[in-house]
Amino acid sequence: MTDLKKYTVVASGKMRDVAFEKLNAAVNLLGWQKGGRVPREEFEERLAQADALFSTGNIKINEELLAKAPNLKVIAQASVGYDNIDIAACTARNIPVGNTPGVLVDAVADLAYGLIIDSARKITLAHQHVKSGLWGQNKPFGLATDLAHKTLGVVGMGDIGSAIAARAKASKMKIIYHNRTRRPDDVELGATYVTLEELLAQADFIVIAVTLNPSTKGMFNEETFAKMKDGARLINISRGAVIDTEAMYNALVSGKLAYAAMDVTEPEPLPGEHKLLTLPNVTITPHIASATVETRDAMALLTVDNILAALEGKPMPAQVQAK
Ligand code: DGY
Repeated sequence: MTDLKKYTVVASGKMRDVAFEKLNAAVNLLGWQKGGRVPREEFEERLAQADALFSTGNIKINEELLAKAPNLKVIAQASVGYDNIDIAACTARNIPVGNTPGVLVDAVADLAYGLIIDSARKITLAHQHVKSGLWGQNKPFGLATDLAHKTLGVVGMGDIGSAIAARAKASKMKIIYHNRTRRPDDVELGATYVTLEELLAQADFIVIAVTLNPSTKGMFNEETFAKMKDGARLINISRGAVIDTEAMYNALVSGKLAYAAMDVTEPEPLPGEHKLLTLPNVTITPHIASATVETRDAMALLTVDNILAALEGKPMPAQVQAK
């Protein structure tokens, strides 16, 4: 068995306690359990000695950063998304990158389904109505819209997209989806493959579950919104940059979009004074789709397992495949 104590693993931020304990017992860990971000200068000093990097996703990992880590053998990030990492630059240095698919699917799909329901039933707005005393003054809240028999368009039918579709079926929604390729199991999933144009034209609710990459950046823009049904509802749990924020704002103001419910935004974090937050037809949560105790523990432990496997010269349980 390899003595892993000879390896130095650097964390870019606070990790879940279970993960810290497991990793600390196995390697020479330079952790950062006090929270927040490791100050840049200190982080760079640590990177100079790092054999492995435990990324909490709060840093850009590019050629400039890699050049500061001459001994780096592996990077593992505690997230499924890795749009902050230049995979080509890591591959060029023979540094494998691990991520955390699978373990977060249910938590993310639950939040997405919650946002779909909220975009129809306006639960967060109804709460504000009560809190601001309007119910107490007998002011009506107004009517919402049903999910049953409406069409949900899933853009990006991977593990998360299909878990969202399964939940939406419980609300008797009709499911259509668009993906780069048609899924062989879509009949079992009860979902119909359509082109993006067809999805935009037919869906009452559109949920975005794609990964952010050059082909999806800004894919929801003025042109895309124009092709949607009037009064469509948009839900995003992928990455904010998939949407052109200004175009979405205009679509919400004009009524083209009846509602937007977003767990991710561009910019992120969204400043409290951002104009999107002045609109009455928006719900925004602060990128919390995977933020449950159980899921974040599982993500952190998978990140540790990715690091330990790579340091032992074994395949990582979840390695990002370079394109
Ligand atoms: C991920 O893992 O990429 C999620 O966005 C984190 O919540």
